[in-house]
Amino acid sequence: MRTLVTGGAGFIGSHLVDRLTTRGDTVIVLDNLSTGRLSNLAAQRDSPDVRVVEGSILDELVIEELVSSCDRVFHLAAAVGVGNIVGDPLGSLIVNSRGTENVLAACARHRRKILIASSSEVYGKTDRVPMREDDDRILGSTTVHRWSYATAKALDEHLALAYARQGLRTVIVRYFNIYGPRMDPLGYGSVMANFLRQAMAGEAVTVYGDGLQRRCLTYVDDCIDGTVMAMETGSAEAQVFNIGDSKSETTILDLARLVIEVTGSASEISHVSYERRFGPGFEDTRRRVPDTDRARERLGWTSQVGLGEGLRQTLASLTCKRPDDVGGGQ
Ligand SMILES: NC(=O)c1ccc[n+]([C@@H]2O[C@H](COP(=O)([O-])OP(=O)(O)OC[C@H]3O[C@@H](n4cnc5c(N)ncnc54)[C@H](O)[C@@H]3O)[C@@H](O)[C@H]2O)c1
Repeated sequence: MRTLVTGGAGFIGSHLVDRLTTRGDTVIVLDNLSTGRLSNLAAQRDSPDVRVVEGSILDELVIEELVSSCDRVFHLAAAVGVGNIVGDPLGSLIVNSRGTENVLAACARHRRKILIASSSEVYGKTDRVPMREDDDRILGSTTVHRWSYATAKALDEHLALAYARQGLRTVIVRYFNIYGPRMDPLGYGSVMANFLRQAMAGEAVTVYGDGLQRRCLTYVDDCIDGTVMAMETGSAEAQVFNIGDSKSETTILDLARLVIEVTGSASEISHVSYERRFGPGFEDTRRRVPDTDRARERLGWTSQVGLGEGLRQTLASLTCKRPDDVGGGQ
């Protein structure tokens, strides 16, 4: 199997590349290295089975060439992280909408199966939990830039499902706060990375707002399991799947306490207002819990790695390469 992984030098993408090569795939990585790093692919450095192309999903010629030369596509490339989205709303929107459209169109032209990496963010600030794939979405105003990421990801899903109506073989996964080795302090799963970095440095662990916002942290190996299962289950085509660990629901404040405990740190917890971190008008989702019945029933997927174990595995592997970075959302 020749597989194209867009965003393959990123946090999740690089774990996917490792998994696919272990299974015998030949992999092409397309990544512009904006938030991804070649060091994430260190295990593949001398592998004849992995080719890394530094380029953008906005480059239609590159997409055309790479899609035509592979059998299937995992599309993970995206502008991610609340800090990045709020910092460059236009650039993020263009990558996350036009870039995905480019990849989908090429897959349709060449009849290649494609998996789209979407996000729990598409549910917005709904207070209905657990979140089911067919639930209504409740987003904030267009004047609040943080919602542009959710809007673009939802557009990606609409596009993929519309292409599916035209015969494209596609499947969509919505990830819920993925964490693990190689996560980026500026990225989507930044809360865990930042807490670990701060606790290990003996700095105050900064919690946004009251810290009572609740999240389900999902270990990256579980995320990769769900991603591969979604791609390889024929009956899952043209469907959306939550990939998130509902058993690991925690408040951000309790997560901060757990990180301090597991690292044996003497750090204190400090609260920083959303306004101070992201400017006025920032809105956050209070509680985000996936309903994973569909993934269990139709893919045979359930999460395996609990929060304590995942945290210990992450801690064992984490190297803090960018100690000055404190960004992203919670
Ligand atoms: N990490 C999470 O918790 C989470 C949650 C929900 C959804 N997701 C989605 O999963 C995917 C992977 O996210 P991640 O957490 O690994 O983040 P990441 O930033 O590590 O990975 C994204 C990758 O895309 C690359 N990229 C960005 N713009 C590009 C462009 N124009 N052309 C080519 N490559 C480009 C980046 O360099 C990076 O390697 C993304 O689509 C993201 O939206 C992640």
